Amino acid sequence: MRSLENIFGLIKEINKALTITVGNLKGGVGKTTNAVLIAYTMAKKGYKTLLIDKDAQANATKMLMLTKMAKEDDQITTLDKTIMRAVSDGDLSDIIVNIIENLYLMPSNIDFENFSKFLFQNTKSQEEEDFFFDKLLEPLKKDFDFIIIDVPPMSKEITRNAVVTSDYVVISLQTQERSLTGAENYVAELDKLNSLYDLDLIVAGILPVLLKNKGTVDEYILENAKEIFGEDNLFKTIVPQMERIKRFDINGISENDRHDFKVLEKYEEVTDELLQRIAFYEEEKLA
Ligand SMILES: Nc1ncnc2c1ncn2[C@@H]1O[C@H](COP(=O)(O)OP(=O)(O)O)[C@@H](O)[C@H]1O
Ligand SMILES: [Mg+2]
Repeated sequence: MRSLENIFGLIKEINKALTITVGNLKGGVGKTTNAVLIAYTMAKKGYKTLLIDKDAQANATKMLMLTKMAKEDDQITTLDKTIMRAVSDGDLSDIIVNIIENLYLMPSNIDFENFSKFLFQNTKSQEEEDFFFDKLLEPLKKDFDFIIIDVPPMSKEITRNAVVTSDYVVISLQTQERSLTGAENYVAELDKLNSLYDLDLIVAGILPVLLKNKGTVDEYILENAKEIFGEDNLFKTIVPQMERIKRFDINGISENDRHDFKVLEKYEEVTDELLQRIAFYEEEKLA
């Protein structure tokens, strides 16, 4: 175990953002919640963090824009340019929005549904297609400590573009059968991309989110996940079902009462474990 100060120093010395995709091929398994709350916690810890919303549903964008507006006394902020426009203009730098100190958002919008079509029309090979976003993101990586990517379920093009630009993947696993299958298929897809492009992509861990607290199905899925992925690959920290999280979708992240603090304390645990896991691999790379 490294001290958190020690990890902070280690990460700050790397002069390029460590990029993390939060994935699972299935929807409704906690991807966006995990991505946003991990990004928020990292920013609070002093890491300069960028959350990239690659889902046309724009749930992460909504949650963070609400968080921003609540902190700025309901100042209405409108987004005049989002990720699809920036991608087609070939420049991602001018769409980034500051949310709170150290936390930045690359916002999405419904027009990001056209991303696959755009790639198909503007690239000549599978490889060019898969690395299109990576090329655009590369110049921004020096400006952040962490970049966290939230992805939609099921889009092959977006999944591949997110994964090839990432150093780490955190797999969001809600305790239901479809989420487990989605995680298994996702790992298979990651393995394929890893060997196709020699990526050095690392699965930082599988983060369980309970559907019901202390349910028998939850126990069963967790046991299965341990067998399939190996116990070490599962986060020790488990995110319980917390009603307050649903309110964050509607009002943004707040820090007002004990229900808020309970959620944020849990994600501090999640984030500290993630930092430990990443520090382990980063030190291995240096050795
Ligand atoms: N730990 C949790 N407790 C209660 N509700 C949660 C929890 N995690 C996620 N949710 C809710 O479950 C729904 C799906 O989560 P979301 O993060 O949007 O999944 P995904 O991005 O994989 O589709 C959302 O309404 C979210 O607020
Ligand atoms: Mg989502």
